[in-house]
Amino acid sequence: MNIKEDWQKVKAVLEAGQASTIYCSVATISPDGLPNITPLGTVFLRDDQTGYFFDHYAKALGENIDQNPNICVMAVRAGFVYWVKSLFLGRFTSPPGVRLYGQASAIREATAQEISLIEKRVAPTKFLKGSRMLWSGFTHVRDIKFSSYRPVTYPVMMEGLW
Ligand SMILES: Cc1cc2nc3c(=O)[nH]c(=O)nc-3n(C[C@H](O)[C@H](O)[C@H](O)COP(=O)(O)O)c2cc1C
Repeated sequence: MNIKEDWQKVKAVLEAGQASTIYCSVATISPDGLPNITPLGTVFLRDDQTGYFFDHYAKALGENIDQNPNICVMAVRAGFVYWVKSLFLGRFTSPPGVRLYGQASAIREATAQEISLIEKRVAPTKFLKGSRMLWSGFTHVRDIKFSSYRPVTYPVMMEGLW
């Protein structure tokens, strides 16, 4: 599993999973060594095995990262059409999920380009009151450098996918 060689595929699987459930699960480790999982819907991946997310509401996530930058980001597809089609065919039409391992940075101000990308992501729901309440005013991000990945697998229906 070479993250650099496989990046475009890994990126596509994570993005499809995040789009289908509206979040990624992000695991961090507390100073006491306890695991914590935080849902994040604002993970963006670049083309060079890095990415970032908006740290806006999260609490333990940032506190843990500031003590221990190691994180694992997982996204799994949950779309009805994807699953019904895969179950009908007896094979997944594309990989169901992936886990990315890396290190997250200290919090920093988002760039204008990063803010425009999150605004574009939430734009389709902006006419809804709750969307404006939840998904406005993002200002800060944390960068992530990914060093490895592991596919999410089942023992069957996966032929040729990884
Ligand atoms: C679907 C979903 C997506 C979320 N996305 C984000 C996000 O991108 N950034 C953020 O700061 N909080 C986000 N939140 C809020 C945090 O996940 C939430 O405040 C969580 O309880 C913080 O957990 P923590 O204490 O482990 O950091 C999201 C929540 C949900 C339900």
